[in-house]
Amino acid sequence: MPDTLILSGKVAAETVYTDLSIRVGSIIKKGVKPGLAAILVGDDPASNVYVRSKTKRFRSMGLHSDTITFHEDVSEDELLLTIDSLNHDKSFHGILVQFPLPEQINSQNIIRSILPEKDVDGFHPENVGLLTMGSPRFIPCTPKGIIRLLSQYEIELSGKHVVVIGRSNIVGRPISILTSLKSAGANATSTICHSGTINIDDHTRCADVVITAMGSPNYLKGDMLKNGAVVIDVGINRVETGNDKGYKLIGDVQWDSIQDIASAATPVPGGVGPMTIAMLVENTVEAAESTV
Ligand code: GUN
Repeated sequence: MPDTLILSGKVAAETVYTDLSIRVGSIIKKGVKPGLAAILVGDDPASNVYVRSKTKRFRSMGLHSDTITFHEDVSEDELLLTIDSLNHDKSFHGILVQFPLPEQINSQNIIRSILPEKDVDGFHPENVGLLTMGSPRFIPCTPKGIIRLLSQYEIELSGKHVVVIGRSNIVGRPISILTSLKSAGANATSTICHSGTINIDDHTRCADVVITAMGSPNYLKGDMLKNGAVVIDVGINRVETGNDKGYKLIGDVQWDSIQDIASAATPVPGGVGPMTIAMLVENTVEAAESTV
């Protein structure tokens, strides 16, 4: 087996931005500047980093982006009122509430309160339904980014067996639905493994593509793969180190052990993460385009 090919989301995202800059130029000429409102609750360091990098990217592309921050004690009613006002605000085409939210907030109520036409995360039940039926409006950003990354590296999914580990509404479940759709870049046989699965290894060893989205550092090892499998690592785990920052980010995959077994794999950082942000920009541009 040749060396494992590194699937760089950093490189692939630049292609997305180059394509998007043409669309952004043409919609701005029509007098519409795509805008994203991000809601950030509390001071979770990871959420802070994600929202900051999303905002930075929007601004560097000449787009409109605002972050509304709340103390972690905020009430659900206060968030609902803010979302209602953003739903009516024409300068924002997309609304993103960063998850996870604190315990006193019912996340489902928050998701349902976002206008489906502004739900650029694709989490609203209407958008989940459209995706499941095979006619998506907004596809959740991480799953969409994974499909785009594979397609940029010309890795075909049709007829392949995809095994997803993790059943979250943000990544695991939507990527399993998306990969199984009868559409270009998909048409795979998808299996979801989760905490109730007996012997996950039995499933991963049959997979052509393994997608890990568990948040469990170094979980997936080379001996759980068949030769030549493609590995997509969605995990971003902070582990303590003695370096200046005090931590480093690692994925769900034990990188060294998959070398020369996997034919291709995404690194952490620099793999799926940059694609998630690129797809958020793309979804927001699409939302803005649908208003003109
Ligand atoms: N938290 C982790 N990933 C995501 C995401 O893609 N969108 C939102 N809104 N919150 C997240």
